[in-house]
Amino acid sequence: MTDRDDLIYEVEDDATDFIPELYRGEYPIVVEGLINQFGDFRIHDDLSLKVKRGEILGVVGGSGTGKSVLMRSIIGLQTPREGHIEVLGRAITGAHGSDGIDIRSRWGVLFQGGALFSTLTVGENVEVPLKQFYPELADDLRKEIARYKVLLSGLPEEATSKYPSELSGGMKKRAGLARALALDPQVLFLDEPTAGLDPVGAAKFDRLTRELTDTMGLTVFLITHDLDTLHSICDRVAVLADKQVIAVGTIPELVAQDHPWIKEYFGGPRGRAASSAYEKP
Ligand SMILES: Nc1ncnc2c1ncn2[C@@H]1O[C@H](COP(=O)(O)OP(=O)(O)O)[C@@H](O)[C@H]1O
Ligand SMILES: [Mg+2]
Repeated sequence: MTDRDDLIYEVEDDATDFIPELYRGEYPIVVEGLINQFGDFRIHDDLSLKVKRGEILGVVGGSGTGKSVLMRSIIGLQTPREGHIEVLGRAITGAHGSDGIDIRSRWGVLFQGGALFSTLTVGENVEVPLKQFYPELADDLRKEIARYKVLLSGLPEEATSKYPSELSGGMKKRAGLARALALDPQVLFLDEPTAGLDPVGAAKFDRLTRELTDTMGLTVFLITHDLDTLHSICDRVAVLADKQVIAVGTIPELVAQDHPWIKEYFGGPRGRAASSAYEKP
């Protein structure tokens, strides 16, 4: 028996410990009546949103409308003043994790700006969540999983041992994605993943996101202002304005709306250009 066979048997023996139950409900993310406020400044006021299982939901809105704060609330990094949030059927607000499964291990996050640990290699970065949530995992198995996630994210194998400073912007995003996928999440949060990428790199990243969503059965909460991303890979788009999600729907459904920001965004010169580029024949 080779070392690798050993590895496989180990996985099979312990497999049940590592495979959490899949959520089969209709809405992996539910936000109801959310209020967020910093000082006197209210960011969200009675905001509600439901994300459907298996979809890529694009989240758009002007700069500073609270897209990132919404994402941070959903993943429990920002305690809202009021409201109810559920992810994969579990309450995030006031959650105590009573049944032992840490819900944070069921989602992956790519933060705005990427935020890789600069003193760790790409592979080591991907190992971080594995160490955090599965400390009992054997070293070589953990490294093998990390290497697989690096490849899955479209990076060459050599990238595993590189440091973030040695990578291009697009490769850093992929490394961040590999880390977000480390735990085989059911939900993926991406905060402006294509910001700062050139159009070719951005389009490739978009395709990768769509492919992984479909093959891994992910549900994706994708903050972006990239009109190409919205048109090419998003199933629906949620619009943040006036402290709420003012509309959710497909792009044609949104274009039909009367709100000034939506009209400007999808009907302005950039919106029209993107729209004609993706027009279905
Ligand atoms: N921790 C914080 N403390 C105070 N103000 C904050 C904090 N986080 C975000 N804000 C403010 O909330 C607003 C929304 O921020 P953000 O969600 O980052 O906007 P965006 O839609 O561009 O992602 C901004 O005005 C921002 O300055
Ligand atoms: Mg933001």
